[in-house]
Amino acid sequence: MKSKSILRGKRTHFCGELRKKDVDKEVILFGWVNRIRDIGNLIFIDLRDREGLAQVVISSEQKDLLGKAKNIRMEYVLAVKGVVKPREEGMKNHELATGDIEVLVKEMEVLSQSETLPFVISDPVKATEEMRFKYRYLDLRRPSMQKNIRLRHRAALIVRNFLDKKGFYEIETPFLTKSTPEGARDYLVPSREYKGRFFALPQSPQLFKQIFMISGFDRYFQIVRCFRDEDLRADRQPEFTQIDMEMSFAGQEDVFSVTEEMIVCLFDLIGARLSRPFPRLTYEESMERFGTDRPDLRNRMEIIDLTDTGLRIDSRIIRSVLQSDGVLKGLVVQNGKNLSRSRLDKVEKRARGLGAKGIIWIKKEKQTFTSPLRLKNEDFTQIWEKSKAGEDDLILLVADKKETALRVLGELRTDFFYQEKTDSTDFQFVWITDFPLFEWSEDENKLVSMHHPFTSPKAEDMPELEKEPLKVKADAYDLVVNGVEIGGGSIRIKDRDTQERIFRVLGLDEKEQENKFGFFLKALTYGAPPHGGIALGFDRIVMILAGEESIRDVIPFPKTTSSLCLMTDSPSEVDENRLKEVGIQIIKKNKGGKNDE
Ligand code: AMO
Repeated sequence: MKSKSILRGKRTHFCGELRKKDVDKEVILFGWVNRIRDIGNLIFIDLRDREGLAQVVISSEQKDLLGKAKNIRMEYVLAVKGVVKPREEGMKNHELATGDIEVLVKEMEVLSQSETLPFVISDPVKATEEMRFKYRYLDLRRPSMQKNIRLRHRAALIVRNFLDKKGFYEIETPFLTKSTPEGARDYLVPSREYKGRFFALPQSPQLFKQIFMISGFDRYFQIVRCFRDEDLRADRQPEFTQIDMEMSFAGQEDVFSVTEEMIVCLFDLIGARLSRPFPRLTYEESMERFGTDRPDLRNRMEIIDLTDTGLRIDSRIIRSVLQSDGVLKGLVVQNGKNLSRSRLDKVEKRARGLGAKGIIWIKKEKQTFTSPLRLKNEDFTQIWEKSKAGEDDLILLVADKKETALRVLGELRTDFFYQEKTDSTDFQFVWITDFPLFEWSEDENKLVSMHHPFTSPKAEDMPELEKEPLKVKADAYDLVVNGVEIGGGSIRIKDRDTQERIFRVLGLDEKEQENKFGFFLKALTYGAPPHGGIALGFDRIVMILAGEESIRDVIPFPKTTSSLCLMTDSPSEVDENRLKEVGIQIIKKNKGGKNDE
């Protein structure tokens, strides 16, 4: 029995590989039943493997086989031996790569059966995300997911080969380690041997890669998992992958050059030809013009400063804002003249939701202006001319604190753009440079690092470090494409004194510095070379290459937006004994399952 099995032969082709040139060849295929059509004396099966589909045909000439095939169901796993035949003209399927041929089955074996599926394996999928994640192994069978995961593999290979050629070593760093601050919460791992003590999973390998430079490896990279306990979004996961890089004796230009060259190679995978160098904007310019530090440059709309004009016009509301240190900012919405009142009401609601006290719109018809704001015609004209608005446009104005006005108009600028159809083959990269070193955290009511505390302040701003920390700029940069932040990095501090000064400004006293970063401060005293680097969000890059809108579609086993793994049903409760071993006692739970304390 066994000696007759098709499995004793070798697979000759993947289903999706067969073409006209294979006609008359005898082939052995393995795959899953994607579709069955039984028309009595003929059964057509679409057999699917990772490369695609092939139609296999069982005819009445093979009576035994026909009988056997009648019991086959969707997603059974088959081995098939047969001969490739051309399809008749009318039977060709031009949407299928293998649509010119079919395989006339001579032998067939059912290798595995399948229960009725919870959802049909099809693109686009009709199942909810909950079902897809619960049965991720089925979801991953979909051709689009197979394609995405293959793309991910190829992208990783390109990175490895490219960086190897550039002299980078791939070196691993520990997962059981100490907190590495990147602005999120740590995932903690309790120690069994040292009760009450915890490892933290790394938010990034930041300190280890800097230590590699101190150790003399010169150039390091790693395609590495990072862990951050933070609120999730379409482009955020609690565990995600970075292309992490660090270089010694290198400045910003060296980091930009290697990164750009690698990005060009990566986008070549999908046939996109990128031109270099990528444009650059300082953080300040980006905020002023686009109201965000990750601008989508496919969107041509820009925020205009109308503060001077605002001071000249006769409006009590605007003047009172400007006199209390506020600004007047505007956004021209092209062809916005025809936006209905209800649409404008929605814009106003959105602006208020974003923190604005209100928003003013202005339309123009010949020489007459309409707006909820009462102004003289000549004042409207001043605003209109300064904004360089056209006859069919609409102007939106926000008078508020600078930060609020820019943020609100920045978000509206994005809203208007994404309501149009965007071109997914146009990739607009931009470096954002000269970030502030610190920002004020309203939540924590203290100064925090804008990137991380190991970022070098600009040399010329060093004297201001303690006096005016919010004015200090950093040698830090982000890489953005089409509004997505795909990377961030900096030139690092390389001496203990400066590192200690930064920690002090961040409010860490000597004891805390020693507890948290003592090992690193010491390492800095033994000859740290000048160094800098970057980390690129690998999932985000693959998402963009794949044309997907969520990184969940390019990660094999992602978490839901509420940080759950539905397939394994984790996080899950653990045995009382296991908890005891690590010295943990659970306090109490509310009904939702989330801990009260
Ligand atoms: P940063 O925190 O900017 O820098 O992270 C680098 C890049 O990683 C991606 N990223 C994420 N992707 C998915 N889910 C997340 N939760 C997530 N968080 C970040 C982004 C981001 O640009 N150690 C520094 C790098 C350095 O200074 O060299 C760091 O981790 O694309």
